[in-house]
Amino acid sequence: MRNLLDPTDLTIDEINQIIDLALDIISHREKYSEACKGSKLATLFYEPSTRTRLSFTAAMMELGGNVIGFSDANSSSASKGETVADTVRVLSCFADIIAMRHPKEGAPMVATQYATVPVINAGDGGHSHPTQTLTDLLTIKREKDRFDNLTVGFCGDLKFGRTVHSLIKALRRYKNVKFILISPDELKLPDYIKYDVFGEKIQFEETHSLEEAMPKLDVLYMTRIQKERFDSEEAYNRLKNSFILNTDKLLTAKKDMIILHPLPRVNEITYEVDNDPRACYFRQVENGKFVRMALIYTLLKWKKEGCTATNNHQIIEGTPCRYSRCISSIEPVKHLYKLSENGIYRCIYCEGPLENR
Ligand code: CP
Repeated sequence: MRNLLDPTDLTIDEINQIIDLALDIISHREKYSEACKGSKLATLFYEPSTRTRLSFTAAMMELGGNVIGFSDANSSSASKGETVADTVRVLSCFADIIAMRHPKEGAPMVATQYATVPVINAGDGGHSHPTQTLTDLLTIKREKDRFDNLTVGFCGDLKFGRTVHSLIKALRRYKNVKFILISPDELKLPDYIKYDVFGEKIQFEETHSLEEAMPKLDVLYMTRIQKERFDSEEAYNRLKNSFILNTDKLLTAKKDMIILHPLPRVNEITYEVDNDPRACYFRQVENGKFVRMALIYTLLKWKKEGCTATNNHQIIEGTPCRYSRCISSIEPVKHLYKLSENGIYRCIYCEGPLENR
């Protein structure tokens, strides 16, 4: 059975197939209106969401299917101490596919060990958000008509920004994609993404200056400083106004640059920028529904066909992962590590190294 936990669970051909299917859905909505009739999606959201949960809901409804689930862990039996493992065993009795968001990194990976239906990671802590990546890719395809030969600037909270981590992992597999990483020192992209888990290093520059990066960019990906991931309010307050995109800062940008943001925004893009034709973030939201339609359809088709994933990673059992944000810190799981292509054993849940993170 196939799941989607990370963009690297899909080959480039499969990503392109899902994007093409989303484009076909956009052009021929009626054709897909009963494509998942009789199927149920369970949305298990242990962390707040507007776009992801509701676009999954809208996507399944537009495919003719039904949706069950919870939008708050406190309204589920998680509040009584039920594990992720038991919750997905239960939901596998009711639903054909599960989309899960959880504050702990690797929670959807634990879900795949117990579910008997496909599991989609709808965002796990500061780790990964692969369906946002598909959304971002569909937006880049529709706005720029290519994935190759792009200079992409990521600005803001690159440490905790799971959408950034996932999009870099996907885009690095296309030709001649360069990354400019714009962040304060405290919120730099984690080393495990820079010196990639999967081998060759990504092509990147780092800067503190959005103004310096702006003229070089084909895509500017703005992000929110992730207040909920900070250990102290003081640290958040110090960094919360690090980057604010306004119309003045766009004066040096390319005329065909596009501005993406996974949303929600706080103050990092002023409202006046919304009127600039390069601002794509609300078009991006709508693309999220179409690409999730394509993904649900594809995973259910693969399930029916008995399609399985090829996984060549060498796995070993090790000492408990020391990262407090890893799901293995709260769920009774085996402490498993996979050998990455750069020779380091990394936790299968959060990708932290076997020693200290
Ligand atoms: N982009 C995104 O994940 O938004 P939500 O948190 O509203 O789902």
